[in-house]
Amino acid sequence: MTKGKRVDTSTVLFGVFGNPVAHSMGPVMHNAAFKKIGFNAVYLAFRITDIANGILAIRELGIRGVSITIPFKESVIPFLDEIDEDARCMGAVNTIVNQNGKLTGYNTDHRGAVEPLMALTSLQRRHVCILGAGGAAKAVAFGLKKKNAVITITNRTVSKGISLAHQVGAAFVSMDDFETARPDIIINTTSIGMTPNQDQTPLDKRFLHPGMIVMDIVYNPLETRFLKEAKTAGCRLIDGLSMFIHQGAAQFKLFTGKDAPEPVMRDAVLQAMRKV
Ligand code: ATR
Repeated sequence: MTKGKRVDTSTVLFGVFGNPVAHSMGPVMHNAAFKKIGFNAVYLAFRITDIANGILAIRELGIRGVSITIPFKESVIPFLDEIDEDARCMGAVNTIVNQNGKLTGYNTDHRGAVEPLMALTSLQRRHVCILGAGGAAKAVAFGLKKKNAVITITNRTVSKGISLAHQVGAAFVSMDDFETARPDIIINTTSIGMTPNQDQTPLDKRFLHPGMIVMDIVYNPLETRFLKEAKTAGCRLIDGLSMFIHQGAAQFKLFTGKDAPEPVMRDAVLQAMRKV
């Protein structure tokens, strides 16, 4: 909603489709940004059970843009009119833009992963180790590959790790051989360390060395045990909100054509997290 304005017949509707979706920070983030740029729009969370019907709803209600989250990022694809190249390569869509009834699918997750890193360093030929091999790992790996990083994946379930490594042109290393990866950058894409398991960490601290960049995608808590230990070891840190805010900012640009007010988005999410 815009400052001083009410929701009215010209209000533009956006939303997030997922299941579950009750804890999504998308509404807080995007509504704060709409307000900041003075755009008469609202962004709501919709718990969807049938994605085909969800897509019909976008068309019928004229919803201008939708974020897609778990579990629909892959299954939504056949229902869209066009898929942009990155999303097609990744096999996953996290953003739909409705332009006069034509629905185009995009994926901004990979940008969310690499943009915070690129604020600190070039990724060209840098050695990056990804912990985990799920959907988030795939998006991170895709983004890194585009920037010509040298990627190594490690994962509890070895077969899944090797499979992702093959898919994205990365190496695989078992946790026992982690030292051989010699990464400049380590990214945790698993849920290890997330509340209520905040005493856990995805990687033994003996593998953390001064000068490394260590990034976590867990943002609850914001300072995970992994990041705390990385800080003590002299690493540079990127917290879990960074990827979320950056993918949201890229989404906002697709939704509105305007640059996202990232600091406002981050502050709004931080404030909302404090209340939870
Ligand atoms: P997402 O799509 O959000 O990335 P996911 O597909 O469920 O989620 O992937 C979660 C990743 O975290 C996987 O790599 C998973 O390892 P497995 O492939 O062995 O399941 C990893 N993961 C989650 N909990 C873990 C734990 N307690 N220990 C080790 N790895 C874990």
